[in-house]
Amino acid sequence: MKNKITIAIDGYAACGKSTLAKDLAKALGYTFIDSGAMYRAVALYCLENHLIDTNGVVNLEQLEKSIGSLQIEISSDQKVFLNQKDISEAIRTPRVAGIVSKIAAIKLVRQKLVEQQQALGKAGGIVMDGRDIGSVVFPNAELKLFVTASDAIRTQRRLAELRSKGEQQSEADVLDNLKSRDLQDSTRAESPLIQVADAMVLDTSNLNREEQLAWALLEVQKIIEQQ
Ligand code: DC
Repeated sequence: MKNKITIAIDGYAACGKSTLAKDLAKALGYTFIDSGAMYRAVALYCLENHLIDTNGVVNLEQLEKSIGSLQIEISSDQKVFLNQKDISEAIRTPRVAGIVSKIAAIKLVRQKLVEQQQALGKAGGIVMDGRDIGSVVFPNAELKLFVTASDAIRTQRRLAELRSKGEQQSEADVLDNLKSRDLQDSTRAESPLIQVADAMVLDTSNLNREEQLAWALLEVQKIIEQQ
């Protein structure tokens, strides 16, 4: 393969974006960035520092003061660090999932994270997944994918992920969280989740991990051959 391209992957919650992005990055020798983990890191920071109250009201003044000093890092083995502390597990709890869409809708949070994500992708050779990657972060990405999956499949995937970490949640609660995040993510004023016109749609409902990867690799190959 010749030049390293930029691959932007967007889609609703738990549709398999991160798994595909990770597999693609590994197969191509590219960097993988799970941008959702960065929004989760800010959400965790807000919870731990009482910047969000029990009614979900965010202390924007305080958040604005501290956001500039937040250091979010993702290591090559996908560990997530907030101010040097490993928060990889802590950002995957239902508590964080419950507020992250609210935090991700805040303009100053998005400005800070988009800037960092663009810097990470400057040299190409990156696969990033999220909600605004093809639309805002990398509008010139050579390959844009919009990943979908049925509600039933998404719920089962998220339940399995939670169970593997010893977290118990009912099927109804998981689906509820996915649906309410989808709604918030796609209706917010600041860079909502959209399917951009030049994105290719990949429905992962009936495809296993290997099949998804094979399909995407073929698309990458076509693009690189055309360069
Ligand atoms: O992919 P995820 O479920 O870990 O993402 C967590 C939340 O972060 C999701 O509800 C929406 C938000 N998000 C976003 O607004 N923009 C991104 N690029 C990535 C995630």
